[in-house]
Order: sequence, then C-alpha cells, then structure tokens
Amino acid sequence: MVLVGIAIMLADTVAAWRQAHYRLLDAGFQIACAFFLAEYLLRLAAAPGAPAAHRRGWRARVTWMLSPGGIFDFVGALPGLLDIAFSPKYASLYGFVWVFKPARYSSGLTSLRLVVSRARHALLSVLLAFCIVLLAADSLAYLLESNAQPKLFGSIPLALWWAIVTLTTTGYGDATPVTPAGRVLAGVVMVSGILVFALWAGILATGYAEELRRREFLRTWDLVAKVPFFKNVGASIIADVARLLRARDYPARAVIVRRGERGDCMYFIASGEVEVRLRPDKVRLGPGEFFGEIALLTGGPRNATVVAAQPCTLLTLDIVDFRQLVGRQPDLARVVSEEAERRIAAGQPAPLLSGG
Ligand code: CMP
Repeated sequence: MVLVGIAIMLADTVAAWRQAHYRLLDAGFQIACAFFLAEYLLRLAAAPGAPAAHRRGWRARVTWMLSPGGIFDFVGALPGLLDIAFSPKYASLYGFVWVFKPARYSSGLTSLRLVVSRARHALLSVLLAFCIVLLAADSLAYLLESNAQPKLFGSIPLALWWAIVTLTTTGYGDATPVTPAGRVLAGVVMVSGILVFALWAGILATGYAEELRRREFLRTWDLVAKVPFFKNVGASIIADVARLLRARDYPARAVIVRRGERGDCMYFIASGEVEVRLRPDKVRLGPGEFFGEIALLTGGPRNATVVAAQPCTLLTLDIVDFRQLVGRQPDLARVVSEEAERRIAAGQPAPLLSGG
C-alpha cells in the first residue's frame, strides 16, 4: 500500500497523467488514505493487547499515541484526514510521509540507528574536524579571493557556499578560485573532504560489522545454551563454543550432507529434525543431537546422506575448530567419539577410528 500510495502521489503531479486518469488516481489515493487511517485506528484499538503494552485500556492507547510509533502512524494517517477535510490535490502532496512507514520493519535500519548511537563520539569528532576545515577553508578563500571575485567571495558567509561545495567534493563549478593561491587552497580542501568522508564511512562500516558479529554471536550463544549437550557446561565453555559455531537455517528437504562427500564440518541440531539416510534404514535426529562427526574423526567420506526432515537450525563446527575444541574440551571429545563408535558399530562394514 505504501508503494501504491507513493506511485499515485508521483503520478498525480504529472499534468498529462492527471488529466487522462484523474478518476483512477483519486480513487487509488482515497483507498490508500482509507487504508492508513484504518490502520491507525486499528493499532489504536489494539494497543492494550500489544506485547510491549504495560498499561491497560485507554491508558495503553494514550501511551501508544504518544510513543514514536504512534506519532509516526498518526502522521501516516494525516493525508487521509486532510483528504476528508480539504481537496485531495493538496492532501496527496503529504503522501511522502508514507515512505517512512516500512522503516519500523527494517532490522537493518534498527542496526544502523544502534551503530550511529554507539559511534556517536567518533562521528562527532569527525564532524568537528569537518567544521574546523570548513571554517578554515572559508576564511582563507575569503582572504585570497575576495579582491579578485567580490561577488562570490566578498564576505566569509558568501565564501561558505564555495567551501561547502568543495569540501563535500560536489564541485558545482559556479564559484571557483581564480588566483593561484586560491587554487592551491581548493586542492587541499578537496583532498581534506575526501579524508573526512573516508573517516566517516570507515567508522560506520566498522560499527556495522561489529554489530552484525555481535548479533550473530548472541544468536549462536542462545542456540548453544539451548542444546542439551551444552546445557550443563559453564558460561565460559558456552562462550568458547559459541565463538566457533555458526548458526545456519535449512528449509525442509534440504540435503545437508551427501554420502561419499569429504567431510569438513559437523553439525549440532538447535531446532527441527533431520533424517539420516543409511542403507536400508533411516534414522531421525532431533534437537540437541549431532551428526557429521564420523567423517571428521575417521578422515573418510560421509557414510550417509542427511536431509532436513523439517525446517531446522543447525550449528556447524568447522573441521579446524573441531580439532581445537576437542583438544580443549576432553569431555566433548569423549561423548562425540563414543557416539561415533556406536553409530559405526550399528552400520557395516565398521571402519576403524583413527583418532578421537
Ligand atoms: P558422517 O559420516 O560425517 O556423515 C553422515 C552422518 O550420519 C555421520 O557422520 C553420522 O553423524 C550420521 N550417522 C551415521 N550412522 C548413523 C546412525 N546409525 N545413527 C545416527 N546417525 C548416524
């Protein structure tokens, strides 16, 4: 509906389209308005039932109305109210507020907000550096160019436009220095601009990468702590394991491991079930169980095909990390190799374990 509303708003301002399809555009706009108005009223009515609501009845509704989400939705419903009160022509211009509506569903934007708020000190320092360079460039440009070009550089506020355009490397070219010293200054300012933006981008990119790593770690930690196999070990061991494991989601019927392939990781089942296709039997493994360990222990190929019996989340452990982990955690090594021996004995022919 956001896309429809915005498309109508854009089309509405093209005179030829408006003339040809004004009925359709008006009807579409009114439907979009009615939708967002109804959404607002429904959210208001349902506010006491929201999981985050701490109050009851009208108090919960008023709290929601005054919350950022409530204000946002009210603004989104405004074009609808304006449409009722005034002509749709003017109301349609307010349709641009709908473009902000999907923001609440974007986890990426939430992460970005977190990243900006965590890196605010570093970002503010760069902003300060930007302002210092800007003012220095502005004043120097005034000093060097005001005599040659009084119309463009006649005062410091007048020269500010040139400084901003140059420092941001936009370079409209409407104000350019003509004196040799002014040109040298312009070169220095352009390079400084690139440095400032590179710093900014670097800070944001690092913060974003850290946030993603932190989320992934928390998710893995959460899953590891739920696996019965790891439940009884201490937080430090969970942290040790969570660092090495990677959570992966598989849809139903996805082939996770193929018989005969080389094995480079083993899997712990965090949720869902997998089917181990042995010949001629099939075995189901559920949450807390593991598979794919035999190939790692024997160095041989996978001895069965494993397929997701339902959508499942698995924690994978790389062969290199597996070797490190069993070295550090002898209990884990014992449980895994005992189970592998039992499984090998259950199947045939039984290859000899080379280690573990
Ligand atoms: P791997 O040989 O690396 O890949 C296939 C996996 O299926 C194997 O490791 C075991 O983890 C698992 N597997 C093999 N035999 C059995 C069994 N009898 N019961 C449960 N799982 C098995």
